[in-house]
Amino acid sequence: MSTLTWSETLAVNQADMDDTHREFVELLAEVEHALDEDHESVGDSFQRFLAHTEAHFAQEERWMARIGFAPENCHAFQHRHVLDVLREVRTVIGTTGDAQILRRLVAELAQWFPAHAQMMDQALAETMSAVGLDPSTGTMANPPSPQQEAITGCGSSSCS
Ligand SMILES: [Fe+2]
Ligand SMILES: [Fe+2]
Repeated sequence: MSTLTWSETLAVNQADMDDTHREFVELLAEVEHALDEDHESVGDSFQRFLAHTEAHFAQEERWMARIGFAPENCHAFQHRHVLDVLREVRTVIGTTGDAQILRRLVAELAQWFPAHAQMMDQALAETMSAVGLDPSTGTMANPPSPQQEAITGCGSSSCS
């Protein structure tokens, strides 16, 4: 069984984000499966996971920019840190030809993701709901006031 599996405790109740997060969990499970059962496909599985994660984070950051987050906010900072690690791992695998480093990465991402989803992505989903953002068109039913300062935290109550 995969280290990280989807459950409703991961849901943030924003349909696009939840769909993307289900795919994140599935693609991570494919990497893990390849490590255990199908070594030939590990590189491709990891590349699919990385490309999906780049698009996943970029999508959330477009929504953040749309609803008044500053470019430098702690949610986007956490995304950048994770992508730096994923790209570094890709380089290590390319250099050494040894994909076993992915075992540790899968375990760490399985720990990191639920906390990220429940705190930062949940806060983003709630802020999107508050401003009435339609993710497909970018329109907002209740846009923030132009005078409102850009949000530099992630918007969750535990974020200072
Ligand atoms: Fe996310
Ligand atoms: Fe996120």
